[in-house]
Amino acid sequence: AQSGLKDLFYDDFYIGAALSGNDVREQPTSMVMTLSNHFNSLSPENLMKWQSIHPDSGKFQFVQADRYVELGKRLGCHLVGHTLVWHKQTPEWVFKDQGGMPRSSKDLSAMMQDHIQNVMGHFKGSVKTWDVVNEAFTDEGDFRPSAWYQTLGEDFIKLAFQTANEADPEAELYYNDYNVWKPKKTDAILSYTSKIRNQGVNIHGIGMQCHLGLEYPTVNQLEVAIQKIIKHGFRISITELDIDVLPNQSGRQGADIDANFPYEAKYDPYKDGLPPMMQEKLTQRYREIFKLFLKYRKHIDRVTFWSIRDQDSWLNNWPIRGRTAYPLLFDEEYQLKDYIFDSLTTL
Ligand code: XIL
Repeated sequence: AQSGLKDLFYDDFYIGAALSGNDVREQPTSMVMTLSNHFNSLSPENLMKWQSIHPDSGKFQFVQADRYVELGKRLGCHLVGHTLVWHKQTPEWVFKDQGGMPRSSKDLSAMMQDHIQNVMGHFKGSVKTWDVVNEAFTDEGDFRPSAWYQTLGEDFIKLAFQTANEADPEAELYYNDYNVWKPKKTDAILSYTSKIRNQGVNIHGIGMQCHLGLEYPTVNQLEVAIQKIIKHGFRISITELDIDVLPNQSGRQGADIDANFPYEAKYDPYKDGLPPMMQEKLTQRYREIFKLFLKYRKHIDRVTFWSIRDQDSWLNNWPIRGRTAYPLLFDEEYQLKDYIFDSLTTL
């Protein structure tokens, strides 16, 4: 067999892919082959999020997630859990009681603990790494004013990690976020996570999602953040890598994409596939990004792509619906983009 991505980086870090509910239900042969050739870590794209796994109070739904774990074990992959405490894809009943009133801090913290104990308890010994808290800070370095924060204050993060550590003392616990490279955000995350670690809380590392554009952030901006994380003594995982070839990702360049392209509009400039010039740009971008990761390989546990194939990427419908993105290393028939792979082999 051809030596794959995971072999290329075998001495450096795990190479992961996020799987959808469809992926684990259908398990098409071509996908399973691709996983076994190229990946040695898996993440659940949506199927372990609160709304998927704990849709109603007292009701846990582990079917899809169990399939994910079985598949991962069969392939010998390192398994990630994503994500225990987030403000999104979490049902309303978590935050509000039956009368629609916000939960008390006592009730909300009990809800959180019950969720973490049940979910981590179910996968104990199988899922080795958890994104415990996701996206708790704003790009400006403030605590995100989510229901978690508004009801429990900053201690909700600490409580989540303490509960997770009790639920599975062996698990590696991560704080995960996007735009971790934005200086105010990096500093806020590191100052808080160091603070609670110094209080005895077990935090293994910082997950940098890395939904990147072709030019933003710069390698240097990413490197500065990586160095800061290392200086604070945390491990790093690249948890959700993709590179968007389309312009104006909202939140990244500060551009308001909705103002330029109405939400329902199609934005698909490359109808016949990615032209050679853009393939070259994407290749160079992947090359410089992996070069950076290799430079810090001693500190990076894992690099995970957010889906395997372009057509399955969430970027096709975000931030505007109907756009077609080319962010990953595999195209339709799970064909590896050789032009990128070849370039990575010469790093
Ligand atoms: C995304 C999924 O890819 C989409 O399918 C879903 O509709 C929304 O969530 N940050 C995260 C991921 O931590 O869970 C998000 O995944 C992408 C941004």
